Amino acid sequence: MADLYVMVGIPGSGKTTYVRRHLPCALRISLDDLRLMMCGQPFDPRIEPAIAVAAEALLGALVPYAARTGTDLVFDATNVTRARRAPVIELARQHGLSPVAIFLECPLALAQHRNRQRPEQVPPDVIDRFAQRLEPPTLEEGFARILRVPVQP
Ligand SMILES: Nc1ncnc2c1ncn2[C@@H]1O[C@H](COP(=O)(O)OP(=O)(O)O)[C@@H](O)[C@H]1O
Ligand SMILES: [Mg+2]
Repeated sequence: MADLYVMVGIPGSGKTTYVRRHLPCALRISLDDLRLMMCGQPFDPRIEPAIAVAAEALLGALVPYAARTGTDLVFDATNVTRARRAPVIELARQHGLSPVAIFLECPLALAQHRNRQRPEQVPPDVIDRFAQRLEPPTLEEGFARILRVPVQP
């Protein structure tokens, strides 16, 4: 059974780096890449509704494809709340993919530090808010497995 990896972590926690290193063969759906594709900017609040539609459409199309072909998928987004993860888990289960959470447990100060080293920075107060909203993934939500990745300097 193929997996749908659901990345969970605040901005700067290392999700995309983890995927590049450890899941090179999984097809990656990235909200940040969609933002660049659709408006050429890392973030523009005006197109966020379109980004949500695009992500849903991609997941809706690629989850059945992945199940049919035995291909792993990875959803590379912050996914910090249970409410955000629930429809993704549900979609995976409907099509026979195994939903797996990969939780980058990163201290807020480290994420802020890494963010400051990046060319395109997320506003620090936005990272604070993600950290406040973070609900660690649980098996009760429907994940088949949860991989906790402790992030250290
Ligand atoms: N294991 C690591 N060791 C050192 N730096 C890292 C590591 N993982 C990520 N980084 C750096 O931290 C920053 C954020 O990583 P990134 O993968 O883009 O995070 P996210 O996708 O969660 O926002 C990047 O500049 C990246 O190079
Ligand atoms: Mg990323």
